[in-house]
Amino acid sequence: MKIIVINGPNLQLLGQREPGIYGKTTLDDLNNRLKTVASSIGVDVSFFQSNNEGGIVDKIASAFKDKLDGIIINPAAYTHTSIAIRDAIEAVKIPALEVHISNIHAREEFRRSSMTAAVCLGQISGLGIDGYEWALRAMANYLQNMKKQN
Ligand code: DQA
Repeated sequence: MKIIVINGPNLQLLGQREPGIYGKTTLDDLNNRLKTVASSIGVDVSFFQSNNEGGIVDKIASAFKDKLDGIIINPAAYTHTSIAIRDAIEAVKIPALEVHISNIHAREEFRRSSMTAAVCLGQISGLGIDGYEWALRAMANYLQNMKKQN
């Protein structure tokens, strides 16, 4: 089971960026935690972070070539604006889960809507970086259940 975790703009600054909102854990520490969880549940996890919309679109589009089964994505600021990322998720038809560290629904008005959530299985928002672990576990369960049904 191959799952990719994609992080959008400014998330390379995790740990330094507004720690009151996004916490003190760095992206490397988060990815290491997810690697440990993934190996404990038999998932092959990979990671991608980009500050460019096109880079994220290209990565999603390469999901077929990379034989990915699931996508966990925090599109960061592009959540609120990117039709291109939304279309890419819809195009590849690979199950995706959207994650936000903060509760986007409890912040500024412009953060409350997501372009991408409607083409994802669901959204986890406001659980801090734990949200990525729950998303990984939830995606693994979802894919397992799908396999059993087929
Ligand atoms: C975020 C929320 C977005 O509104 C913001 O632009 C981010 C991070 C989150 O994880 O809480 O960069 O996606």
